[in-house]
Amino acid sequence: MSDQTFKKNILCVGAGYVGGPTMTVIANKCPEYKVTVVDISQPRIDAWNSDELPIYEPGLDERVFNVRGKNLFFSTDINKGIKEADIIFVSVNTPTKTFGEGAGKASDLQYLEKIARQIKEVAESDKIVVEKSTIPVRAAEALERILHSDDSKTHFEILSNPEFLAEGTAIDDMEAPDRVLIGSKDTPSGLKARDQLVEVYTHWVPRERVITTNLWSSELSKLVANAFLAQRISSINSIAAICEMTQADVQEVSRAIGKDTRIGAKFLNAGVGFGGSCFRKDILNMVYLCEFYGLHDVAQFWAQVVKMNEYSMDRFVKRILRTLFNTLVGKKIAVYGFAFKPDTGDTRDAPAITICKSLLREKAHVCITDPHALKNAALDLEGVEGAVEYELDPYKAAEGAHAIALVTEWKQFKDLDYKRIFDSMSKPASIFDGRNLLDHKALYDIGFNVYPLGKPDLDHFQNED
Ligand code: NAD
Ligand code: UDX
Repeated sequence: MSDQTFKKNILCVGAGYVGGPTMTVIANKCPEYKVTVVDISQPRIDAWNSDELPIYEPGLDERVFNVRGKNLFFSTDINKGIKEADIIFVSVNTPTKTFGEGAGKASDLQYLEKIARQIKEVAESDKIVVEKSTIPVRAAEALERILHSDDSKTHFEILSNPEFLAEGTAIDDMEAPDRVLIGSKDTPSGLKARDQLVEVYTHWVPRERVITTNLWSSELSKLVANAFLAQRISSINSIAAICEMTQADVQEVSRAIGKDTRIGAKFLNAGVGFGGSCFRKDILNMVYLCEFYGLHDVAQFWAQVVKMNEYSMDRFVKRILRTLFNTLVGKKIAVYGFAFKPDTGDTRDAPAITICKSLLREKAHVCITDPHALKNAALDLEGVEGAVEYELDPYKAAEGAHAIALVTEWKQFKDLDYKRIFDSMSKPASIFDGRNLLDHKALYDIGFNVYPLGKPDLDHFQNED
């Protein structure tokens, strides 16, 4: 098909974890649209154009290979993309600011602003500009000012369309979303643009699942969704601490409260803490906004969710230290899993980073195993002092170890031959199951001292007298 025969040209700026998978799904579902994904990073674009895609996501490869070169294109020619596009999704990174005013909390909007300026400079026709990146509420106001900052006749209509996909399930989340959210201005041009975006999604999403709101509600809802999800995790992690003191079992508590339909069962898995590029960043962004608007009590309320998360990681390490007779010097700890969750190689803000650094500060010898995240793990721990190894084979990782610390619940860890692992370890051999993945009774019967999270210990010391 030549460009002229495509019904619409869609551009996405930012070929990352969001831009790549979302545009792949749109291209698969809308064969009459030309979808182009651009990025400033040549290596990233080269990888999207190769057999080895830059991110690991179940179901992604086959969908990319199905449409790449037909109606899905990856390129670094951003200007050409802008000129051709009818709709421009902006999916650049919006990390936490590390400098100046708001450092450590506010969003760093430099990448968003840069692309807005480029769009303004290059565009020769009217465009719909869609905020796909997660941004602070009222960011559209700033975008609007930048895009309309000269007397050019080009009209830019800004829509907010936050992305709710989770990594590891990105394709399913895109193909069968709970909802799609589109925020627009309540003006004739705003509503017209909104309807065009609704039309894209209703190629496969039932219309009743496409929610339309004003711009500010849409922008804020994204931060709030992540804050609520993360809050549930911190809540249940706080309860895990009580369980460990009282012989209650956090999984039983989760099940019992999750049956209440008002509470619901999801996001109640206690663990070593939440990770990923979004939760911490987006809550801190909301905390910053609250402070900016003088809502200090509201800011403190949400800041506590992040504090509880840090406490959860710290508590996990302290438990290892306490159990291994208060010294880890020279002891080998096999860390099972480094990705921030299973089914992704992404390690951004992964609890494993904090946990490994703490173990290394205690002078432990850390051996990390992960099926997809070892490259990123090595980058994350580059320059950190101490004995650290990376080992793809979980059996080798455990050889001679005093303990296994399970940090990411990869399915493959469930099916290992733990008798073989136990036999190869130093004794007494301990397992700290930071995600309650394993069969604790079976491990105990093999001979392990087992320390599940938020549950009674199963160790052999209690029976020694
Ligand atoms: P990412 O870092 O993986 O990708 C962002 C890409 O944008 C990078 O490849 C970068 O090179 C590119 N980029 C930056 N400035 C550019 C410019 N001026 N021109 C062209 N390309 C440019 O980030 P991500 O995880 O895809 O997240 C993107 C946005 O989506 C963020 O705002 C994030 O908060 C939000 N989000 C992420 C997730 C997730 O699960 N990762 C989920 C929902 C929302
Ligand atoms: C999250 C949101 O779920 C998604 O809607 C948003 O678009 C981006 O941020 P993501 O970070 O990719 O997605 O993964 P998610 O499944 O939410 O897990 C985040 C972290 O929470 C992981 O570290 C996970 O291990 C942890 N988690 C999740 C728990 O500790 N317990 C739970 O019950 C659920």
